[in-house]
Amino acid sequence: MDRARIEAALAGAYPGLPDAAAGGRPVYRGKVRDVVEGPGRLLLVASDRISAFDRVLSTIPFKGEVLTRVSAWWFARTSDIVPNHLVPPSHLGGRDPVRETGRACLVRRAEMVPVEVVVRGFLTGSAWRDYQAGRTVSGIALPSGLARDSEFPEPLLTPSTKEASGHDRPASGEELVRSGRVDAELWEEISRAARALYLRGREVAREHGLVLVDTKYEFGVADGRLVLGDEIHTPDSSRYWRLPGPGASAPGARSELDKESFRRWLAERGFTGDGEAPSVTDEIRSETAARYVEAFEAITGEVFEPNPLPTQALDELLAEWASTV
Ligand SMILES: Nc1ncnc2c1ncn2[C@@H]1O[C@H](COP(=O)(O)OP(=O)(O)O)[C@@H](O)[C@H]1O
Ligand SMILES: [Mg+2]
Repeated sequence: MDRARIEAALAGAYPGLPDAAAGGRPVYRGKVRDVVEGPGRLLLVASDRISAFDRVLSTIPFKGEVLTRVSAWWFARTSDIVPNHLVPPSHLGGRDPVRETGRACLVRRAEMVPVEVVVRGFLTGSAWRDYQAGRTVSGIALPSGLARDSEFPEPLLTPSTKEASGHDRPASGEELVRSGRVDAELWEEISRAARALYLRGREVAREHGLVLVDTKYEFGVADGRLVLGDEIHTPDSSRYWRLPGPGASAPGARSELDKESFRRWLAERGFTGDGEAPSVTDEIRSETAARYVEAFEAITGEVFEPNPLPTQALDELLAEWASTV
């Protein structure tokens, strides 16, 4: 998408679902998603809000739509491994909220496990920083002498607690079970599912010339069964690298298909989560929007064409669903 089109969209970035659009139902506001409750189901509306270091800092045009559509794309390619929370169009009289709105989806409400299930294929990011500082990576001791960005022989699970407010905290699986956050048997099932999802992600991403470097899942339980909730393999929840060329297997130059460049921009200005955040310029907003659009296109192999519905029509559609789910 060309820069002029992105710049023209800056003012129209979607800050979130107005209360009035929820048809009188309570709206839970996450950092990125607004969640409207209905009996047994939830309407998840991905706003264009961007968070970094656990703080909401700005809006990025098209971001919510990229997240919703990339997730739907991956849910369809992983549902044989573990059922996910999306209510299929066949249960909605053929209607497809993702196609119709771009940014909203109807999901089964699950009892969420308060754990961010992080899976890593490579020693990079915060895992590299921990390793370099001589620390274990989420309680896992790694052999010495590993190089930055080297591939683990097996995907590494480095979960953290999901806190209602404040920063998430790394915790080993054992700790999560001991503290009662998750039942031992369920954790076994979650670990197995997370590894399998990540390996599938790696395999599918490779076909598109990408490496799924690491990612985060959130699981829940619905009707007594494990379900994958939230989002999957999006640029918010994952790190992607581009392969240097077709058929190559080693990661190439940093592709910046994720939020990393935005985080770096903040860090260069002295913000890593505490104190006052710098004000986010339109220039970095445009650049970040271009990255999200690029990520959509690289991951799915499709050209990104934003949903043409103006916000008002979107809100009307949402209100209609909110009052019927
Ligand atoms: N199927 C589901 N059932 C219940 N809660 C869900 C489901 N899928 C996602 N959620 C929750 O909805 C919220 C999504 O909003 P988000 O902006 O991602 O929140 P956060 O600030 O916690 O990252 C999260 O709290 C997530 O755990
Ligand atoms: Mg989230």
